[in-house]
Amino acid sequence: MKYLTFKNGDQLPMIGLGTWKSKPGEVYDAVLWALSAGYRHIDCAAIYDNEKEVGKAFEKAFSDGLVKREEIFVTSKLWNNSHRFEDVIPALKNSLLELRLNYLDLYLIHWPIAFKNGVGFAQTREEFFTYKDVPLSQTWAGMEEAHNQGLTKHIGMSNFNISKLEEVFESAEIKPEMNQIELHPFLPQKKLVEFCKSNGMLVTAYSPLGSGDRAARIKKENEPSLLENDMVRAIADKHNCTVGQVLIAFSIHRDIAVIPKSTNEGRIKENLASIQVDLDADDMKALLNIGTDFRYIDGSFFTGTKSPYTLSDLWEK
Ligand code: A2P
Repeated sequence: MKYLTFKNGDQLPMIGLGTWKSKPGEVYDAVLWALSAGYRHIDCAAIYDNEKEVGKAFEKAFSDGLVKREEIFVTSKLWNNSHRFEDVIPALKNSLLELRLNYLDLYLIHWPIAFKNGVGFAQTREEFFTYKDVPLSQTWAGMEEAHNQGLTKHIGMSNFNISKLEEVFESAEIKPEMNQIELHPFLPQKKLVEFCKSNGMLVTAYSPLGSGDRAARIKKENEPSLLENDMVRAIADKHNCTVGQVLIAFSIHRDIAVIPKSTNEGRIKENLASIQVDLDADDMKALLNIGTDFRYIDGSFFTGTKSPYTLSDLWEK
């Protein structure tokens, strides 16, 4: 495995198992297959609605002696309905309870979007908090408190653009250490990655394979397919590996951690083996300039007339 290193020397295995969209009834086996195959990094979130089952898999893995707690790196994420200072620690503690852990390795603010407490997915304007109600600095202070209490070793965010990161930096006592963002050849995020790295942050790529198993309501018609792209296919053929492996190796070669989701034992193993795919400078150049520009997770489910947020709160133009 290859690793990214946090400022305190802690190491993040560069390939982790993604669990978004992994169904209850499937994710238990997926986590155990992954740990057996050698994964030591599991990416979770409260909103994935499967942390309980992931926790059962951890418990089984620990009791069988497959891995020790301190040998795995576990991430979870603060859902949008717990952005007030006083809501952060209870939300984190709930994830710990479900995951059957007593600390997280990394806790992330999932989105720079706030719902009122108790709202699962805001549908009306009244169900949102605005930045005036709950500034990001308040949420970050809650994250710092969680870190100070030893509930999580590292803190960061997901889906934050440069201006939102700058806003957090202004009041942060603990500098954010991670930004987890959608990233793949159709969305290489050159500027944001450069900004994060130059500010001492690590980056994790989500949806590296295009998240084809998303619900239809958050898919667009005629989305371009990473897994069926001719150029990616040609690079895979050149290296005698799979298209999925090229897409995962793309992040690794940029010193970016990557969390492909799978609940299929064969593909879980295949994805971990991407670490051996040795893309060369020509491959990387081709992938970085692939000519298709597309964001799969566009956040439009948080915006519109019934929301105080716009897409410019999420993405740089
Ligand atoms: P499955 O869980 O059946 O393996 P993302 O990580 O971008 O969210 O993509 C996840 C989707 O990609 C899931 O549909 C997953 O299906 C599929 N997938 C995971 N690994 C591979 C692979 N190596 N090749 C093709 N599809 C894959």
